[in-house]
Amino acid sequence: MRLLVTGGSGFIGSNFIHYWMDVHPDDSLVNLDKLTYAGNPANLRDIEGSENYQFIHGDICDEKIAEQAMRGCDAVVHFAAESHVDRSILSPHDFVRTNVLGTHVLLETARKLKIGRFHHVSTDEVFGSLPLGSREHWTENTAYNPRSPYAASKAGADHLVRAYHTTYGLAATISNCANNVGPYMFPEKLIPLAITNLLEGKKVPVYTPGNQVREWLYVTDHCRAIDLILQKGSLGETYFVGPDNPEYTNLEIVKKILGTMKLPETQIEFVTDRPGHDQRYALDWTKIKTELGWEPEVNLDSALKQTVDWYSNNQDWWKQVKSGEYQKYYQKQYGRSL
Ligand code: NAD
Ligand code: DAU
Repeated sequence: MRLLVTGGSGFIGSNFIHYWMDVHPDDSLVNLDKLTYAGNPANLRDIEGSENYQFIHGDICDEKIAEQAMRGCDAVVHFAAESHVDRSILSPHDFVRTNVLGTHVLLETARKLKIGRFHHVSTDEVFGSLPLGSREHWTENTAYNPRSPYAASKAGADHLVRAYHTTYGLAATISNCANNVGPYMFPEKLIPLAITNLLEGKKVPVYTPGNQVREWLYVTDHCRAIDLILQKGSLGETYFVGPDNPEYTNLEIVKKILGTMKLPETQIEFVTDRPGHDQRYALDWTKIKTELGWEPEVNLDSALKQTVDWYSNNQDWWKQVKSGEYQKYYQKQYGRSL
């Protein structure tokens, strides 16, 4: 099989490419990536020269590049997106452009080239926010209710994918996944930001009051789920992908990281909250478990330990990432220099 991966130089995309080349060594992969601030060629340095891997530097909004990349492919796995909620609040334009328009260009190209399979990687955030303390879980039938520009742009993309399946019969599937954690995650997101700040002897900024709840899944479990959906998922269907952990607040997650790194809680710093901050996410992923037999394999403690180890052992990777543009972003977001 020849697979087009969009956004393969980012966090989940690069983990997915590593996963796929390990598990399906006879397949060939094309990675179409614009290399925004979040895309990093270093994530795939070890496979750059592989015969069955091709990199195309380009924008998914560019119809010609999209067609060039997709021609000859059997399937598409679409990761490329602007993905950070705080940046979407500071500057939404690129989110609408890449996440909505870019997805549209890819869908239109897939329709034109009669691509056999289009998998769209989406997020739990399109469903909005659950009350703290409630026991409610979202299912694949829950109505969309996005609340940040990021979530709204991903919701727009999901709706387009569904429409292309219904209207044109495009062989599409969607996965909505919980928060991922693991290697190569850009250190603007809570967990890698916490770990790298701590490795530099700096404090962890926790949005006040730190009682919001996220679900954390090790990235390889997400990659396995996408693989199964491609192999066995039903066309036109959506699958939730989530972890099997107790719920933890952001503050509890940061305390777990401090415990893993043997550092004191005085390293926590409460900062101004995110506007419109979603309180709690909770996915009921029974469907993928019963229909496709997927279950997560890595529990939270092991995921955090592996992630702390990776950032501790790959300091050149994140020190390079945290220079330049990142410093300006940090100043704008947190009102102070790093
Ligand atoms: P990321 O920000 O780390 O990587 C995004 C990648 O897309 C980068 O390599 C970037 O260069 C590329 N890209 C951005 N705009 C592009 C464009 N116009 N054309 C081509 N390439 C472009 O993101 P991530 O965290 O790896 O997320 C990947 C996907 O998974 C996204 O669609 C995101 O919505 C979804 N998702 C992420 C999480 C999470 O916890 N990170 C959870 C659920 C779903
Ligand atoms: O739920 C899936 C989503 O998870 C993905 O779709 C997004 O692409 C991904 O970025 C992530 O979004 P979140 O907003 O949940 O992740 P983030 O790491 O930015 O924040 C996690 C929680 O931690 C959230 O409640 C906000 C809080 N937070 C975040 C940062 C960056 C802090 O308290 N302090 C911080 O400095």
